[in-house]
Parts: sequence; structure tokens; C-alpha cells
Amino acid sequence: MIALQEQVQVVDHPVVQHLLTRLRDYHTAPHKFRRYSIALSEHLVYEACRSMKCRDVNVETPVGPAKGHSMTDYVVLAPVLRAGLVMSEAAQRILPAARVYHVGLKRDEETLEAKSYYAKLPDSLPSDSRVFVLDPMLATGGSAVAAIELFKKMNVATVQLVSFVAAPEGIKRVHSAYKDVQITCASVDEKLNERGYIVPGLGDAGDRIFGT
Ligand code: PRP
Ligand code: URA
Repeated sequence: MIALQEQVQVVDHPVVQHLLTRLRDYHTAPHKFRRYSIALSEHLVYEACRSMKCRDVNVETPVGPAKGHSMTDYVVLAPVLRAGLVMSEAAQRILPAARVYHVGLKRDEETLEAKSYYAKLPDSLPSDSRVFVLDPMLATGGSAVAAIELFKKMNVATVQLVSFVAAPEGIKRVHSAYKDVQITCASVDEKLNERGYIVPGLGDAGDRIFGT
């Protein structure tokens, strides 16, 4: 794993890079795109969990006593609609006890600003919560900052962002607003184009996942 800069975790595992390449490929059909997205999400969320808090526990194996660890954080998954939905499906496989709060944001393709259209959130969360904001694309960072802000306002201990691909512009925007937010991704790409798309990126994640 390479840490390009503080709070950016780039997962360079061959399996992750293989899946990312399949997603980048223009010829990958939507049903395969969804399957690869779920697999990639599982690996990225797994890596993002490295800093989870654990407590020591004692268990009995069929052969005798053993010391082990149990994760203690109150885990919240916050998929950003639409594209984040596939990521939460995957994340729940490895964090089955997590609570899921959906955040609906749509980027205005003219202004590139994120507009909120749905947020079903609790009034508060336990202070030791660890929130994983799930959004495959970190482009300008407008959507990520809007989603992160919802949870930062609740004073939770930790907010992390998990994305497939991040643009340098998006990383900068997230860390200018919230420098403690760890970003886990499979790649930091080159730049944004004039329409705010990540280059080379993988195109419109929502459209490719849902075949629209
Ligand atoms: C895409 C993507 C992110 C956002 C990233 O969603 O899934 O949420 O754009 O762009 P930003 O970093 O510049 O905000 P979009 O708004 O197109 O909605 P969709 O998932 O419903 O297609
Ligand atoms: N949203 C996407 O789905 N892809 C991009 O490259 C930028 C924003």
C-alpha cells in the first residue's frame, strides 16, 4: 500500500488494480461493471478498516482458551446515491452490523456543485462512531464535502471516505475542509477535464453501474 500523502491511502494490491482496470475499460458491460464494483468495494473497505479500534477478548476454541480481538467502533455506512449503493452492498458483507444512512446528492453538470435531494439521518450518533462515506468518484470534491459535513455536524469521532478513483482537485477540497478525513482509493488520477470528469477515470460511475 502506498501513502501518497498524509490521510490518502492508495491500495496498490494487484487484485485491486486488476479490478480498477476492468472498471476503467469502456468495453466492460454494466452487469460486469456492477460485479467488479462490488468486488473492488469489498477490498477498499477492508483496507479502510485498518485503523478500527479493537478490544482484547478471550474465547474458547474446541481445543482451549485463546486471546483475540473484537472491533468496538460503532460503524456507520453512508453511501452517496446513486453510485455509492453498490459500495454499501459490498461493505455490509464485511461489516454486517453497520448502520446504513443514505445520502442523496446530484452534481449540477453546469455549475458542478452538489445538490442535496435526500438525507435520512438520525438526530445524533454515538460520539465513538466511525462513518464511512462511500462514493466511487471523488472529482471536484463537492459531493464528498457535502456528505462529510452532514456527519461532522454530529461531532462523530471519525469520518472516512472510500472511493474508487480520486482526482487531486477533490482530495485538496476535502482536506481543505476536513484535514483529518482519511481517503482510501485505488488510484489518484491525473486531473479533471473541462466538464469536471476525472481523467482518465472511468466515466460516469452511476450511469455505468445502472446501465442508464
Ligand atoms: C457522481 C459521483 C459522485 C459525484 C462526484 O455522482 O458518483 O457522487 O458525481 O463528483 P464531485 O466530486 O464533482 O462532486 P452524480 O452527481 O453524477 O450522481 P449519480 O450518482 O446519481 O449519477
Ligand atoms: N462523476 C462521475 O461519475 N465520474 C467522474 O469522472 C466525475 C464525476
